Amino acid sequence: MSQNQPVESPAMNESLVPDMKDIVALCKRRGFIFAASDIYGGINGFWDYGPLGVELKNNLRDLWWKHMVTTPPVGPDGQPVQIVGLDSAIIQNPKAWEASGHVGGFSDPMVDCKETKLRYRADHLKIIRVDSPDKNLFFAFIEETSEEEMAAKVKKVLGKSVQIGAHESFLECVDKLHLIVAPDAKESGTLTPPKQFNLMFHTYVGATASEENKAYLRPETAQGIFLNFKNVMDSSRVKLPFGIAQIGKAFRNEVTPRNFIFRSREFEQMEMEWFCHPDEVETWMNFWFEERQKFWKNLGLSSDNLQMRQHGQDELSHYAKEGLGTSDIEYRFPFTAPDFGELEGIAHRCDFDLTAHSEHSGQKLEYTDPNDQKNRFIPHVIEPAAGLTRGVLALICEAYTPDPNRPSGVYLNFHPSVAPKKAAILPLTAKDSHVPLATKIYMDLREHYAVDLDIKQNIGKRYARQDEIGTPFCFTIDDQSNEDSTVTVRHRNTMKQERIAIESIRTYMEKEMALMAQ
Ligand code: GAP
Repeated sequence: MSQNQPVESPAMNESLVPDMKDIVALCKRRGFIFAASDIYGGINGFWDYGPLGVELKNNLRDLWWKHMVTTPPVGPDGQPVQIVGLDSAIIQNPKAWEASGHVGGFSDPMVDCKETKLRYRADHLKIIRVDSPDKNLFFAFIEETSEEEMAAKVKKVLGKSVQIGAHESFLECVDKLHLIVAPDAKESGTLTPPKQFNLMFHTYVGATASEENKAYLRPETAQGIFLNFKNVMDSSRVKLPFGIAQIGKAFRNEVTPRNFIFRSREFEQMEMEWFCHPDEVETWMNFWFEERQKFWKNLGLSSDNLQMRQHGQDELSHYAKEGLGTSDIEYRFPFTAPDFGELEGIAHRCDFDLTAHSEHSGQKLEYTDPNDQKNRFIPHVIEPAAGLTRGVLALICEAYTPDPNRPSGVYLNFHPSVAPKKAAILPLTAKDSHVPLATKIYMDLREHYAVDLDIKQNIGKRYARQDEIGTPFCFTIDDQSNEDSTVTVRHRNTMKQERIAIESIRTYMEKEMALMAQ
């Protein structure tokens, strides 16, 4: 989403970029993602995950947990690294958010438009300058606006076509507010000066809605980990370096939630805080850069659509201002293309959080070297922080493959490990002779894989549905199946069909999925 250019951006064929409208429509049509409170017209920035969306999200969640906690990677010394899990409360003592800096600082600069009553994040606006005969005007646009859209808007306001040139950031132009035409306004001078707006949702704990009872919904899962650093150290056998991982909901009252589930107000994060000796930060930072990129590539995100980008000094969070800073793993989403948008941040948080919680709580949050009890220090933290729901969006965008040669016109080319259904069992007809055998195969297979038994409708429509939900294989049961115990298997990507023995279905799936995963 930044204006930074990718370090090495491979050539992008514009016609290959899928349209977000089509992706959003498929997600609704097939039960991946719905607008929250859809029947009441939705609620901006909130989304519900339907029957297939929740399966996809759970698959990504479980793969992350496996990669981080159950079978964590092998470290630079050839030994598996040590990471334990955690599930902390969404609401914590409000003092925790004062210590973490979120009460005082977790805010975005925001401007209002007096004409349209719309609100924008000032750091997400870009400004272009247009010379007109009577006065110079400045036009503000939200950062994803294309050059064609900008040119059309300027033409509408000025009545003439202009060449769209370089743009400046809004925050550099606050002295020209009277000359700026807001993104949705007709007149200039309608934007207010930027105001800081805290992103934390709050509520009241207990019966009285008083200031003392005010509490916050967590804006990141990370703080729950720092709050439990001592508990985990005291109760488990972890030794430095080690990690604590957590997956869960986070809430931010984003000023401008947009781009489907990319920036929402309720979302899920997968975060791991890696505690290590300050002298080892560089080694571990490089290790986690590599591991985290490998993780996303192993789930099918192509290298062309991924890049690492180091934060500029002006973008750094309060906790990453010292030390090695933050780098993002970015994905080329259809709405950012040819640019990239953040998928995961890998930050050197230094000892900021443990020091702050130690000072505010009065509890010692240090590590004692087991081989030298006099050696006590506050560990440094490296944090790979990924969006689970944003990851789901990247997986869907990557999988979305228009194909005019098939009835559905599109299929989802999911990596088999994330596909919500690994196979569909389809009796050719709803006849008595096909359904019992199909049901038997389904009952056997469902013990091993997430599979679908789909009985009604003509077979073409059922294939189309499975293509659109990204099921790698369809097994069809027909008259011949009862005679020679074979089925027809249809492969999602090639649409090729072949006949295989019922007893070899599982080995067939295992082999083919391994091939698809390469
Ligand atoms: N603990 C550090 C932290 O929260 P962040 O960059 O603000 O860092 C980490 O968030 C990840 O969470 C992001 O890379 C993104 O994938 C996801 N994320 C952040 N805000 C989000 C939002 N409003 N909607 C969806 N995902 C979001």
